[in-house]
Amino acid sequence: MPAVVVIGGQWGDEGKGRVVDFHSRYCSVVARYSAGHNAGHTIVNERGKFALHLVPAGIFYGNKTCIIGHGLVIDPKSLLAEVAMLSERGIDTSRLLVSERAHLVMPWHRIIDLADERLRGAAAIGTTGTGTGPAFHDKVGRIGIRMADLIDRARFRERLREVLEYKNRVLTGLYGEAPLDPDAIEREYAEFGERLRPYVADTIAVVQAAHARGEMILLEGAQGSLLDIDSGTYPYVTSSVPASVAAGGGIGIGIGPTAIARVIGVYKAFQTRVGHGPMPTELHDSDGETLREGGGGAPDTREYGTTTGRPRRTGWFDGVLARYTARLNGVTSVALTRLDTLSGFERVKVCVAYELDDQRVTTLPATLEAALRVKPIYEELPGWQHDITHVRALGDLPTEARQYVRRIEQIVEAPIDMISVGPERTQAIVTRDVFGAALT
Ligand code: GDP
Ligand code: IMO
Ligand code: MG
Repeated sequence: MPAVVVIGGQWGDEGKGRVVDFHSRYCSVVARYSAGHNAGHTIVNERGKFALHLVPAGIFYGNKTCIIGHGLVIDPKSLLAEVAMLSERGIDTSRLLVSERAHLVMPWHRIIDLADERLRGAAAIGTTGTGTGPAFHDKVGRIGIRMADLIDRARFRERLREVLEYKNRVLTGLYGEAPLDPDAIEREYAEFGERLRPYVADTIAVVQAAHARGEMILLEGAQGSLLDIDSGTYPYVTSSVPASVAAGGGIGIGIGPTAIARVIGVYKAFQTRVGHGPMPTELHDSDGETLREGGGGAPDTREYGTTTGRPRRTGWFDGVLARYTARLNGVTSVALTRLDTLSGFERVKVCVAYELDDQRVTTLPATLEAALRVKPIYEELPGWQHDITHVRALGDLPTEARQYVRRIEQIVEAPIDMISVGPERTQAIVTRDVFGAALT
């Protein structure tokens, strides 16, 4: 059976966790394949409201193999806190597996993340400060420490000293920070290693065996395509390798591109971004404030970061970027989230092109200077006033809301198969079964 990848089509926080929680029922393996605990996925289901950073959103079903793949960088402390939180709330984590090849976020990564941001000054990225970027930097720089090292005490002791000797020179010489003590780190991480040992496995073999048995695998993306290191709004991007786009799914978990049969692109019905960088449709007015405070939609869904609590920048749906990311990912099916938030606007806008130096352009320029200068060209559509959080059938949506959905579908050139009208698992309109019998 094939694998399905769920990706974010914007700047992250599109509702990927919510969509994965919904679709996990059809799958036997649910896996994260990239990023670290910079991701924050909110899930609201019959077990309550949860914020997950590393654990796949399939964990709530109890009978799914949930994998944290080798494409991730893992802060052991953060992972253990997440597992403890889930256990305390009665969620079974015994089917969680962590790749032995995944890299570790070490104490120096967070220090360097914060110090780099200070050094960048006005050009700061607005990172999550979780150490994720520097951990990927070390992975690619070949001075990373992996989960397999952590659970082998003698190996960890040796590798830690090798790496820390180098890192302490960087910390003291370049950043003016105090050197870190290898003994203290060794003691702390030895305990992490003992506690994580039961979860650590050769997850590539597990995923490949599941694939060979014909089981359905769901790959949960993190971030959004516009934050991708190669295709995103560089340098205001995240640093995950493999990429935050669908092509990274197979790489980060250990299956080939031919195994991936569907790509579900998750798009919010408007635009949000946390951190700095270009955002052509950003609103600085009361409409932007209304979107941030949850508009006329479900209560308690204000736009503030799941990981950092920062207010999210908000704006109208950017069709130029949505089409770009749909093509970039080979999106076959769209999940449109937070349509309920738009309730109450007299008119809603969709950006269909940009104006740049008196020209109409339909792509975002690569240079930062030009990307910051483009002016959105909007199409206006009539809004709708009713609360739609209780709607479960497309035909029951107000005509204007359906018109809006159809327009976005035309722009992204892929069918919208799921419309989410609230954060809860059941608050969805499903128009086509993405996991139907045809998926073989
Ligand atoms: P992710 O990182 O892509 O998983 O998204 P986040 O969890 O960071 O942010 C999405 C936010 O929107 C969360 O607070 C969700 O609970 C909320 N959410 C998801 N779908 C909907 C929806 O259809 N309507 C409303 N109002 N909120 C939603
Ligand atoms: P999920 O999976 C939204 C953003 C940060 C910053 C930039 C770089 O919840 O959608 P980093 O700490 O990764 O070096 O920060 O990327 N960012 C996210 N924004 N959602 C995310 O994940 C993000 N992960 C990173 O805000 O602008
Ligand atoms: Mg998020």
